Amino acid sequence: MTEKQQHNPDAERRLALRVVTMPRDTNQYGTIFGGVILSWIDQAGFVEARRHGAHRWVTAALDRVDFVAPVGLGDIVNFYTRTVRMGTKSVTVEVDVEVDRYATGQCVRVTTATTTMVAVGPDGKAIPFSSPPTATTPETSR
Ligand SMILES: CC(C)(COP(=O)(O)OP(=O)(O)OC[C@H]1O[C@@H](n2cnc3c(N)ncnc32)[C@H](O)[C@@H]1OP(=O)(O)O)[C@@H](O)C(=O)NCCC(=O)NCCS
Repeated sequence: MTEKQQHNPDAERRLALRVVTMPRDTNQYGTIFGGVILSWIDQAGFVEARRHGAHRWVTAALDRVDFVAPVGLGDIVNFYTRTVRMGTKSVTVEVDVEVDRYATGQCVRVTTATTTMVAVGPDGKAIPFSSPPTATTPETSR
């Protein structure tokens, strides 16, 4: 780790995303397909990364994800994010996934994932995320 990179062990945890699971999200066993949760983890990582700069952000890495409890149909899935490392062109985001059970409202921890998001310019090349905003709307970038 270079001097420029900063660890943020005490970074504030924020609610980045909250989703109600639907029948389209289930697997053949009636519980939520793990890949759907991974996709939402990715979105939550983007929401957190976007706080550090108005750029396109791409996912460079998603570390091992261990699911310790299933997610059921109708559960409310909460994605809490925290920036745990700030580099020059990338940030590392920790995403805690918890569900509020549909039937009981009980809060259950599902997993914690770590993702590295990289800021990129319009050409898709990595850029320092502290640069002036480079994001364009989908309409203007066409
Ligand atoms: C992410 C990407 C832009 C990085 O390009 P690159 O040429 O390696 O960029 P750089 O060498 O300048 O590195 C930029 C930053 O990304 C980090 N990085 C790059 N690859 C990484 C990886 N696999 N894991 C963790 N960090 C990574 C570097 O450490 C560096 O961080 P820092 O500036 O904060 O120190 C490029 O690999 C890419 O476009 N990948 C595809 C991303 C994508 O499309 N994701 C969605 C897949 S569907």
